[in-house]
Amino acid sequence: MAKLTKAVALLLLALPLFVLAQDTSTDTASDVIPNPTPTPDPVVTTSVSVPAPSTTNPPIPTTDPAYGDGVATNTIFQNLGTVGLYLSITLSAQKFASLAAILDDHNQKITFFAPADSALAASISSGDLNLTRTDNLTNILLYHIGKGAISSQNSGALVFLDSFFNNASFVRIGQNKPQVIEVTNESGNMKVNDGAITANFIKKDIKCSNGFLHIVDKVLLPPINTLRTLSAIPELSTFYNILDPNNVTGPVSGQALTIFAPNNAAWAAYNYTSKPGGVLKMEVKYHISNTGVFHTLNFTDGQRLSAISGQLLVANVALNGTIFINGAPIVIGNILTSNAVVHVLGQVIDMSKIAYTNMSFTTNYLAPVSTLQSTIVPTSKTSAAWKTDAWGIGFGATVAVAAVLVGL
Ligand SMILES: *[C@@H]1O[C@H](CO)[C@@H](O)[C@H](O)[C@H]1NC(C)=O
Ligand SMILES: *[C@@H]1O[C@H](CO)[C@@H](O)[C@H](O)[C@H]1NC(C)=O
Ligand SMILES: *[C@@H]1O[C@H](CO)[C@@H](O)[C@H](O)[C@H]1NC(C)=O
Ligand SMILES: *[C@@H]1O[C@H](CO)[C@@H](O)[C@H](O)[C@H]1NC(C)=O
Ligand SMILES: *[C@@H]1O[C@H](CO)[C@@H](O)[C@H](O)[C@H]1NC(C)=O
Ligand SMILES: *[C@@H]1O[C@H](CO)[C@@H](O)[C@H](O)[C@H]1NC(C)=O
Ligand SMILES: *[C@@H]1O[C@H](CO)[C@@H](O)[C@H](O)[C@H]1NC(C)=O
Ligand SMILES: *[C@@H]1O[C@H](CO)[C@@H](O)[C@H](O)[C@H]1NC(C)=O
Ligand SMILES: *[C@@H]1O[C@H](CO)[C@@H](O)[C@H](O)[C@H]1NC(C)=O
Repeated sequence: MAKLTKAVALLLLALPLFVLAQDTSTDTASDVIPNPTPTPDPVVTTSVSVPAPSTTNPPIPTTDPAYGDGVATNTIFQNLGTVGLYLSITLSAQKFASLAAILDDHNQKITFFAPADSALAASISSGDLNLTRTDNLTNILLYHIGKGAISSQNSGALVFLDSFFNNASFVRIGQNKPQVIEVTNESGNMKVNDGAITANFIKKDIKCSNGFLHIVDKVLLPPINTLRTLSAIPELSTFYNILDPNNVTGPVSGQALTIFAPNNAAWAAYNYTSKPGGVLKMEVKYHISNTGVFHTLNFTDGQRLSAISGQLLVANVALNGTIFINGAPIVIGNILTSNAVVHVLGQVIDMSKIAYTNMSFTTNYLAPVSTLQSTIVPTSKTSAAWKTDAWGIGFGATVAVAAVLVGL
């Protein structure tokens, strides 16, 4: 009984404080837009503020207005202002003239995934963007411009769109190709992805004279190098941690690679800690292809890729779309990096159990996945025999080879 009285007393005490707090917030809310990140700017802005002097831009809104529809005969650049994007103010500065020129070019067919005001503000407060660093912002925004006019009506379910970002200091995916933007359409829900960040569309398909403008809820960042990317993915920590001790960090930093990274569960199942160093090193090299950057859309059934270990990798595409690399399934595809693409495998490609010898691909190689998996038979073969194989290079005596023949 005494406890209850105390509780009621506390409640009564707390009530006026609660009302007071409510009052205070109502006072401030009447003239200041709620802002989670306090800005040191001494100028108090109200909803009917006088335009800022021409030398300084108004602060970036942290919440999005209701963006307009744009005018179809406007260029993308013109429509930035028409729809009410803050970016229009930023890109009107002379220092961004080259970027503006691309977006304003009537002769282009392009797509701009424009960060919404809230996305810009968030990216600045997180330190990813700095509006005074022209080169950096130009690079990052070039990565938001795609070559070709992509809308939800013509994109397809998955597209790797060449961007305008091909700065050689940051993009090494081969043949001076620009970095790609991954665009997906899942049941009409359009998204863009830079390999790490997925942005949703706030407003899509704004038709412009030179392509499409889409407003997205995040700033994409150009993919970074493979090692840093791998280090940030918890389920690839085993793969990352065996690269350095096995001296494979160099190869992973090469140009134009496709990296098949088994996840932690796969390495545990493979019992990697019991493997001799030499075997582990070859295993890792067997998971790295220098045949080029193969996104999941690039694989065809029977596709051959060479691994930097010197052996052959064979991709198989199951009828349900699952892709297998030498029998190991890709469980997560298309992690973009500055020099490669990473696909996560649910299984280690065990060289001691499976290897593909010279299969003749002169006829269409369309063995179903089940055939490939059923032929994973551990068969002893001497290293000398392996060395004579057309695609093999010597890698020690521990390797057993299962010859996989088409049609068996
Ligand atoms: C933005 O960049 C400028 C120039 O490099 C620098 O002086 C400033 O501190 C940076 N701002 C932030 C928030 O990092
Ligand atoms: C590449 O990016 C760097 C760093 O931002 C910049 O200094 C350089 O001008 C860029 N190169 C080209 C060709 O845009
Ligand atoms: C932009 O600047 C950040 C911070 O300095 C840097 O990490 C990043 O690599 C730069 N990106 C580009 C594309 O210039
Ligand atoms: C995107 O998805 C929607 C809904 O499923 C569909 O109507 C539209 O045709 C798709 N667009 C493309 C280009 O596949
Ligand atoms: C690491 O690999 C490089 C070539 O990729 C080689 O020159 C070097 O000797 C290797 N280091 C060790 C410790 O094996
Ligand atoms: C892993 O290999 C070691 C050494 O060969 C062995 O003792 C251990 O039982 C193996 N563990 C599993 C899970 O296969
Ligand atoms: C992957 O497909 C795209 C689009 O068809 C193509 O431009 C690219 O060259 C292909 N990559 C490889 C490695 O074949
Ligand atoms: C897709 O097909 C492969 C090969 O038949 C099978 O192993 C896999 O479980 C299937 N995946 C799904 C999601 O049905
Ligand atoms: C692979 O085998 C086929 C058929 O036996 C043969 O015609 C072809 O020359 C061989 N390829 C290589 C690279 O040895």
